[in-house]
Amino acid sequence: MTGATLMPIPFDSVAAASATHTPVVETAGAPRPLIEFRHVQKSFESHGQSTHVLDDISFSVERGEFLAIVGPSGSGKSTVLNLVAGHVQPSSGEIMYDNKPVTAVNNAVSYLTQDDSLLPWRTVANNIAVPLEIRRVPEPERKERVAAMVRMVGLTGFENHYPRQLSGGMRKRMMLARSLIYDPDTMLMDEPFGPLDAQLRLVMQAELLRLWSNSGKTIIFVTHDIVEAVSLADRVIVLSARPSRIKLIETIVLARPRDIHTVRFAREFEEHYLRLWKSIEVDVMRGALQ
Ligand SMILES: Nc1ncnc2c1ncn2[C@@H]1O[C@H](COP(=O)(O)OP(=O)(O)O)[C@@H](O)[C@H]1O
Ligand SMILES: [Mg+2]
Repeated sequence: MTGATLMPIPFDSVAAASATHTPVVETAGAPRPLIEFRHVQKSFESHGQSTHVLDDISFSVERGEFLAIVGPSGSGKSTVLNLVAGHVQPSSGEIMYDNKPVTAVNNAVSYLTQDDSLLPWRTVANNIAVPLEIRRVPEPERKERVAAMVRMVGLTGFENHYPRQLSGGMRKRMMLARSLIYDPDTMLMDEPFGPLDAQLRLVMQAELLRLWSNSGKTIIFVTHDIVEAVSLADRVIVLSARPSRIKLIETIVLARPRDIHTVRFAREFEEHYLRLWKSIEVDVMRGALQ
């Protein structure tokens, strides 16, 4: 899978076609995108106040695509992931996953949420093993897969520690291991490398790319870091400030496989970075000054 083969969303053309009452003709066997947001709006009501978060969001994600979402704080990035996971429902519009509307918890996805959701009474190894236990993977295979994951995320030697004995970065790595061991078709990742130091972040980014390449897995990756988004993704979506709309969908032309350490020195990288920063800058500045 290369970035160049991933075409932007056909959904707008479908919407335009139906608006003029032209029947939408689908080529027989043409694959639909794996995930589609169709004119999604989302407001939250709490304490008698309504917060209009998403305003008419339409995009789609191809099978096997690595999509990044950036946007100012509070723009609804986590809400987009919650909608794909079926944890919240849209106020209007719909979210399709594999041609079916998401109306309940979506079990086809793993979700690495922004907050720690570790089991404090379980050791590192036993936390990582949870998804395999749920799927009744036999113990010898479970142990082998957990050991491999522990190595991958650099937690060797900490298998029998408890979450409270780990640093924030180590807890994050443990969560990453738990979400990857599940081997899901789609991974939703909400700022997964945020608390890691710069070097470890690069290691984890490289590992993620290695795991994802040729896996056929689809990733939606939320980050506040434009460099991270361009380094990893096939396309980057920029959300505006609330009520958010899509400001830009940038297709990243950098060839794969990408070397996480050198990819940022490519000329195209700079162009992508500047276009994305220009798109996001005004909303970030406004938020910072509020
Ligand atoms: N379950 C919820 N109930 C009420 N308000 C929510 C809920 N989830 C998110 N929000 C509000 O929606 C807005 C967007 O939140 P979020 O999606 O977390 O933004 P981001 O991830 O871009 O920082 C925030 O103002 C947040 O308080
Ligand atoms: Mg968030």
